[in-house]
Amino acid sequence: MNYQTILFTIENGICIITINRPDKLNALNKQVFTDLDAAIDHVNSNADIKSAIITGAGPKAFVAGADITEFAGLSKEEAMALAKRGQDVFFKIENSKKPIVAAVNGFALGGGCELAMACHFRLCSENAKFGQPEVNLGLIPGYGGTQRLVQHIGKGKAMELLMSAQMIDANEAKQLSLVNYVTTNETLLEHTKKILDIINSKAPLAVAGCIQAANAVYDESKDGYAIEIEVFGNAFATEDMKEGTTAFLEKRKADFKGR
Ligand code: COA
Repeated sequence: MNYQTILFTIENGICIITINRPDKLNALNKQVFTDLDAAIDHVNSNADIKSAIITGAGPKAFVAGADITEFAGLSKEEAMALAKRGQDVFFKIENSKKPIVAAVNGFALGGGCELAMACHFRLCSENAKFGQPEVNLGLIPGYGGTQRLVQHIGKGKAMELLMSAQMIDANEAKQLSLVNYVTTNETLLEHTKKILDIINSKAPLAVAGCIQAANAVYDESKDGYAIEIEVFGNAFATEDMKEGTTAFLEKRKADFKGR
């Protein structure tokens, strides 16, 4: 795959997707969305990849937002299409069958915060800063930020951040459960990989089922409890469930095949 704005590497079953526009603080332009879209498809179709990390290039930013230079002169319809495109790519991340985790290595503002929130969970380095500064530009978030920020940190605090454009630092993000762990800048990727190594040792179809069922909590068109019953039942028809239960009874480590 020929990516222009991201780096795509695979290491020990973990794909690392690095948004690579450090001179523009990794701002999300159209090409980044094209590349990210293709990269998520690649993650889900490549059997060598079990999970993925999204991070940003350079020491300063994860992603400092949508690329503001692309906003100039957009009509209402074009702006709506831009938001729909961003939302579609972020839904693809959220609904990926393989885990996708954000390693937030600096500013995660606007579209950057929205990208991190679309991932299944987040770690960040000590220098990370999160925020939705769109009201500074006379805008609101367009890539799901008004919805996911409320889901992640609750309505009151989300309303404050959305309306005030205030940034929060890594420790506050941890207190608000926006991130699971705060690490040093140097250990962010290693820590993220360690968590994924554990997840990657589990039954892949069961991991995908957890993602599907947990995502249903936030989808009003779906009955999450009914999905849980269905996914639970489907698991009984997998080779991995037989292997997992047999291995437990035989007191050995399970060897999951993703079937
Ligand atoms: N879109 C386009 N370019 C951006 C960008 C964005 N969202 N965020 C940063 N950049 C560019 C800057 O224009 C600058 O480019 P230049 O060197 O060609 O002038 C470069 O990235 C470095 O940014 P700079 O502002 O000089 O860095 P800083 O350390 O002084 O400030 C931020 C860092 C993150 C506070 C600041 O860049 C910022 O406020 N960015 C916009 C955040 C935002 O509003 N995001 C939501 C967009 S909807």
